[in-house]
Amino acid sequence: MSSAVLIAGDAHPQLARRIAQESAASVVPAAVARFADGETRVRIEGDVRDADVYIVQPTSPPVNEHLMSLALLADAARAAGAARVTAVLPYFGYARQDTRKAPGEPRSAQLACRILESAGVARLVALELHSPALDSAFRIPLFHLDADGVAVPALRAWRLEALTVVAPDAGGLKRAQRYAAALGAPLAAVAKTRTAPDASAVLGVLGEVRGRDCLIVDDLVSTGGTLAGAAKALRGAGAASVQAFFVHAVMAPGTLERLAAAGLQRLATTDSVPLPAASTLEIISIAPVLAREISRLAR
Ligand code: R5P
Repeated sequence: MSSAVLIAGDAHPQLARRIAQESAASVVPAAVARFADGETRVRIEGDVRDADVYIVQPTSPPVNEHLMSLALLADAARAAGAARVTAVLPYFGYARQDTRKAPGEPRSAQLACRILESAGVARLVALELHSPALDSAFRIPLFHLDADGVAVPALRAWRLEALTVVAPDAGGLKRAQRYAAALGAPLAAVAKTRTAPDASAVLGVLGEVRGRDCLIVDDLVSTGGTLAGAAKALRGAGAASVQAFFVHAVMAPGTLERLAAAGLQRLATTDSVPLPAASTLEIISIAPVLAREISRLAR
């Protein structure tokens, strides 16, 4: 098999360029356009015969559009003779719907994976999935990465005096525990309940946060409700300051304003999805992590 070839999907070409700069992979251009009726049209504009192809495409909003263009690019690569296609999903939309929470619901994350699989994707590379349990739910190999290697040094450089790492909900406990261990800080947690698919309420703060510089660590921010609720609860419990790091800034409209109003002093995220222009977010690039994995897999 020849060496790695990168194809940038339409969701985040800037990140694909950053990954290409960090790796030895060559880039084959691809065009993604829409017909007037809304159908997606893709074309790979280079030679991928016998190539080990990596398509970089977070399925960030609009999730369905980006999932479909990824599937079409994978099919196009296979049809053009690619030896193997790996989908690199810096953010995997649908990953939060990993289990059926009520009768009548689909297994959305598994279905999204099967769509990619039937389009010719042989392997997935994903970053900070909502639930690592997805690993066993997928039929094709999944290489699941975390952002710790780039995020921990950046957060350590904040030099928070009385640092306590906080999980904003029970689902985020393991991740927060990892960061607390790496940063040598105690751990606290916020108890949260979901009142509707995009709404949550804080039940209480677990652990000692009075007078502490709290760092909330989460996988993603979508509406900002979880983070804003946790920040307010921590303030209410006497935290000296509250800041946050989250891996995926999925950010529905109005989210930055919501976070600003919650009294968060500093916010950092990665470039796993395209970020709102001129935002106050501190960006930690995930490109080196993805480039390293692509180089490792392409060997
Ligand atoms: C939830 O379980 C996740 O880990 C995130 O905390 C959540 O999805 C964030 O969503 P939102 O910003 O809408 O509260």
